[in-house]
Amino acid sequence: MTNQPRNAETPVPEAFQGIRIAPSILSADFAKLGAQVAEVMEAGARVIHFDVMDGQFVPPITIGPLVLSGIADQVHDAGGVIDVHLMIENPDRQFEDFAKAGADSIIFHEEATPHAHRCCHAIRELGCLAGVAINPGTPVDALAELNGMLDEVLVMTVNPGWGGQPFIETSPDKVRRMRSLVGDDVLIEVDGGVGTKNAGMMAEAGATLMVAGSAIFGSDDPAQAYRDITSAAEIR
Ligand code: DX5
Ligand code: ZN
Repeated sequence: MTNQPRNAETPVPEAFQGIRIAPSILSADFAKLGAQVAEVMEAGARVIHFDVMDGQFVPPITIGPLVLSGIADQVHDAGGVIDVHLMIENPDRQFEDFAKAGADSIIFHEEATPHAHRCCHAIRELGCLAGVAINPGTPVDALAELNGMLDEVLVMTVNPGWGGQPFIETSPDKVRRMRSLVGDDVLIEVDGGVGTKNAGMMAEAGATLMVAGSAIFGSDDPAQAYRDITSAAEIR
């Protein structure tokens, strides 16, 4: 299923609005993926973060449209959305397949293509929110010419490729600078090393979407971990 093309005026789906914790299924048990997604959605999660790695842009290889289509109906039927984070080279070759498989947002890396402006347009034409991610070593100004083209910015708070890495402590300042660059209407997502200790600080800095992988699915009780991080993000 694909959606109507989007533009800068198209409202952002409700599930993406406000402060949201987005469980990353990278750290889930793939032998019971549907049950793990259900567990966090029953606890209140509405944004499911889906990490795609190609063994080129980053060393690991993870999952693609086939797995996405396997969970898409479940997530959408429960009122949720799927936030697809492409850590891949030549991302524009894959947008259509991910949109058809059920992506609600598609995020590509600024470092993976010289054609960020064209990529944002292509993603919106497929009816998805257009997102750009930047690595820890990339300055916020790399996105300065994309104003009006972006629905979502992802500030990596670890180097992409693996779950469970320590949060980079200079990230709140970077998020603050990103917020002043993009204004209030763009979603700012942080990804990597996020948990109860830093979710409030990141919300205060201007992040609205907080990805948490190992802090949720590495816990004995993912639903409780989701609720704890949500509460931490609200205290700001
Ligand atoms: C890492 C991925 C993340 C990952 C985060 O490259 O983009 O989404 O799942 O994992 P944690 O929360 O464990 O740092
Ligand atoms: Zn991610």
